[in-house]
Amino acid sequence: MQTITGTDISFAAELLRKGELVAIPTETVYGLAANALDADAVLKIYETKGRPLFNPLIVHVHDAKQFEKYAEEIPSIVYELADKFSPGPLTFVLKKKNIIPDIVTGGGDTVALRVPGHPLALKLLSQLDFPLAAPSANPFGYISPVNAFHVREQLEGRIPYILDGGNSMVGIESTVISFEGNKVSVLRAGGVAMEDIAEQIQNSKFKIQNFVKPILNLESSILNSPGQLKSHYAPKIILKFGKMEKLLAKYSNEKKAILSFSKKYSGENIVAYEILSLKGDLHEAARNLFSAMRKLDASGAEVILAEKFPDHGLGVAINDRLERASS
Ligand code: TXA
Ligand code: MG
Repeated sequence: MQTITGTDISFAAELLRKGELVAIPTETVYGLAANALDADAVLKIYETKGRPLFNPLIVHVHDAKQFEKYAEEIPSIVYELADKFSPGPLTFVLKKKNIIPDIVTGGGDTVALRVPGHPLALKLLSQLDFPLAAPSANPFGYISPVNAFHVREQLEGRIPYILDGGNSMVGIESTVISFEGNKVSVLRAGGVAMEDIAEQIQNSKFKIQNFVKPILNLESSILNSPGQLKSHYAPKIILKFGKMEKLLAKYSNEKKAILSFSKKYSGENIVAYEILSLKGDLHEAARNLFSAMRKLDASGAEVILAEKFPDHGLGVAINDRLERASS
């Protein structure tokens, strides 16, 4: 199969209507999209990604008003949060309606819905009369793509079209939240900081749960959100994650690639370096994270040393990705 890259929204729409896959830009990462209401089309996503079937997909819609077409018993707080954060990097796990095929939800009775904050994705959705199921457009377990080139590197020859929307401006995946009674649980840290969600709901009856690192503690229990799988987002070479001074001392003899927030560290045998934000801005760091990991992965180093980021704001999501890339 020949893979074409371009900006032709009508062509992308036509392929999707025929049940084909199209890689689409979003503000978080690129998605590998199919008609979410067509089980055969969705099956192609799992095959192309090599993704286990129990791992449910996010369904992308044009507008939060469409949530009620695909979900029921939607708590009022969902619309308050959507007013503030949609379109944007926030995904809502809700009770699904039957119109959503089981293959989209891993057989479960909930569906994850999101309005992507990227103009091309929104324009594409407005031309379709179905929503788009889309996981990140990378082989299962590898680093998520944040531009069309990254998608092509890994999926060339396997999909007909990559809709090119430039670099993803958020750079890490959406925050995934679910609802139970008055509890809002963060299933995956992502592009909306938990503090911002907490602030938005502070005057409601809802309380945020599992505020700190909900994701890594749940290994043995049910996989509520398989983004929780411990080894994920992983580069090909070994990545070590922690306090940089300690890592540099421990790996003094190895050929190293360094991933740091804003500081420049020195040491022996450093062959590659990525500083994610010289001015110490966590949004900028998130935007640069996956591109930097790919560059370091191709640097010829024996080991990538990644420092721990501040544990607040988007630092929580960055640390989550690095911690899982290291296991
Ligand atoms: O930013 C994003 O969310 C990107 C773009 C393309 O939208 N998508 C993305 O998809 O990261 P994926 O498949 O790589 O991750 C989806 C996450 C997984 O952690 C999955 O477990 C969770 O959403 N998820 C999907 N449906 C769910 C459900 N019904 N219940 C709980 N978690 C769900
Ligand atoms: Mg993914």
